[in-house]
Amino acid sequence: MVERDKKRGEEASIIVCRCEDVTLGEITDAIAQGYTTVDEIKHFLRAGMGPCQGRTCGHLMAQIIARETGRPIAEVWPMRARPPYHLVPFSTILHEPGEAVMFSKEEG
Ligand code: FES
Repeated sequence: MVERDKKRGEEASIIVCRCEDVTLGEITDAIAQGYTTVDEIKHFLRAGMGPCQGRTCGHLMAQIIARETGRPIAEVWPMRARPPYHLVPFSTILHEPGEAVMFSKEEG
Protein backbone atom coordinates (compact mmCIF):
# COMPACT_ATOMS: atom_id res chain seq x y z
CA MET A 1 0.00 0.00 0.00
CA VAL A 2 2.78 2.45 0.93
CA GLU A 3 4.72 1.46 -2.19
CA ARG A 4 1.63 2.06 -4.36
CA ASP A 5 1.05 5.51 -2.78
CA LYS A 6 4.74 6.38 -3.28
CA LYS A 7 4.56 5.37 -6.94
CA ARG A 8 1.34 7.34 -7.39
CA GLY A 9 3.00 10.37 -5.76
CA GLU A 10 5.94 10.16 -8.12
CA GLU A 11 3.62 9.82 -11.11
CA ALA A 12 1.66 12.89 -9.99
CA SER A 13 4.58 15.16 -10.86
CA ILE A 14 4.85 13.91 -14.45
CA ILE A 15 4.24 16.76 -16.88
CA VAL A 16 1.47 15.91 -19.33
CA CYS A 17 1.05 19.33 -20.95
CA ARG A 18 4.50 20.76 -21.53
CA CYS A 19 3.23 24.04 -22.93
CA GLU A 20 1.18 24.90 -19.83
CA ASP A 21 3.11 22.86 -17.20
CA VAL A 22 0.12 20.74 -16.21
CA THR A 23 0.93 17.54 -14.35
CA LEU A 24 -0.68 14.12 -14.27
CA GLY A 25 -1.58 14.74 -10.62
CA GLU A 26 -3.43 17.95 -11.46
CA ILE A 27 -5.35 16.17 -14.20
CA THR A 28 -6.32 13.19 -12.02
CA ASP A 29 -7.38 15.60 -9.24
CA ALA A 30 -9.55 17.50 -11.73
CA ILE A 31 -11.11 14.23 -12.90
CA ALA A 32 -11.84 13.33 -9.26
CA GLN A 33 -13.58 16.71 -8.94
CA GLY A 34 -15.86 15.82 -11.87
CA TYR A 35 -14.10 17.30 -14.90
CA THR A 36 -14.33 14.24 -17.12
CA THR A 37 -13.92 15.46 -20.69
CA VAL A 38 -10.85 16.82 -22.46
CA ASP A 39 -12.60 20.13 -22.99
CA GLU A 40 -13.49 20.45 -19.30
CA ILE A 41 -9.90 19.67 -18.29
CA LYS A 42 -8.70 22.15 -20.88
CA HIS A 43 -10.91 24.94 -19.54
CA PHE A 44 -10.18 24.12 -15.88
CA LEU A 45 -6.40 23.65 -16.06
CA ARG A 46 -5.46 25.30 -19.40
CA ALA A 47 -3.91 21.99 -20.50
CA GLY A 48 -4.15 21.94 -24.27
CA MET A 49 -4.26 25.72 -24.58
CA GLY A 50 -0.55 26.27 -25.15
CA PRO A 51 1.30 26.98 -28.38
CA CYS A 52 0.80 23.44 -29.73
CA GLN A 53 -2.96 23.66 -29.02
CA GLY A 54 -3.11 20.17 -27.54
CA ARG A 55 -1.36 18.37 -30.37
CA THR A 56 1.10 16.97 -27.84
CA CYS A 57 -1.03 16.54 -24.73
CA GLY A 58 -4.54 16.08 -26.09
CA HIS A 59 -4.25 12.34 -26.70
CA LEU A 60 -2.53 11.89 -23.33
CA MET A 61 -5.36 13.70 -21.53
CA ALA A 62 -7.90 11.52 -23.34
CA GLN A 63 -6.05 8.36 -22.28
CA ILE A 64 -5.86 9.55 -18.67
CA ILE A 65 -9.57 10.37 -18.60
CA ALA A 66 -10.44 7.00 -20.16
CA ARG A 67 -8.26 5.19 -17.62
CA GLU A 68 -9.55 7.11 -14.60
CA THR A 69 -13.23 6.97 -15.55
CA GLY A 70 -13.30 3.50 -17.14
CA ARG A 71 -14.85 4.91 -20.32
CA PRO A 72 -13.71 3.94 -23.82
CA ILE A 73 -11.29 6.38 -25.41
CA ALA A 74 -13.72 6.96 -28.28
CA GLU A 75 -16.05 8.65 -25.77
CA VAL A 76 -13.50 11.23 -24.69
CA TRP A 77 -11.60 11.87 -27.91
CA PRO A 78 -11.38 13.94 -30.07
CA MET A 79 -11.56 17.17 -28.15
CA ARG A 80 -13.59 19.96 -29.64
CA ALA A 81 -11.50 21.92 -32.12
CA ARG A 82 -12.05 25.65 -32.30
CA PRO A 83 -9.83 26.85 -35.13
CA PRO A 84 -9.78 30.49 -36.14
CA TYR A 85 -11.88 30.64 -39.31
CA HIS A 86 -10.22 33.73 -40.69
CA LEU A 87 -8.16 36.62 -39.49
CA VAL A 88 -10.00 39.63 -38.16
CA PRO A 89 -8.24 42.93 -38.71
CA PHE A 90 -7.95 45.29 -35.74
CA SER A 91 -9.87 47.91 -37.70
CA THR A 92 -12.94 45.64 -37.51
CA ILE A 93 -12.71 45.35 -33.74
CA LEU A 94 -12.05 49.07 -33.27
CA HIS A 95 -15.11 50.28 -35.23
CA GLU A 96 -17.97 51.91 -33.36
CA PRO A 97 -21.18 49.83 -33.13
CA GLY A 98 -23.35 50.42 -36.20
CA GLU A 99 -20.50 51.90 -38.21
CA ALA A 100 -19.93 50.29 -41.60
CA VAL A 101 -16.87 48.06 -41.75
CA MET A 102 -14.81 48.27 -44.90
CA PHE A 103 -12.44 45.46 -45.79
CA SER A 104 -9.46 46.17 -47.96
CA LYS A 105 -7.54 43.54 -49.86
CA GLU A 106 -4.54 44.00 -47.54
CA GLU A 107 -6.62 43.27 -44.43
CA GLY A 108 -7.91 39.95 -45.73
S1 FES B 1 1.60 20.27 -24.66
FE1 FES B 1 -0.33 20.90 -24.00
S2 FES B 1 -0.81 22.61 -25.25
FE2 FES B 1 1.13 21.95 -25.91
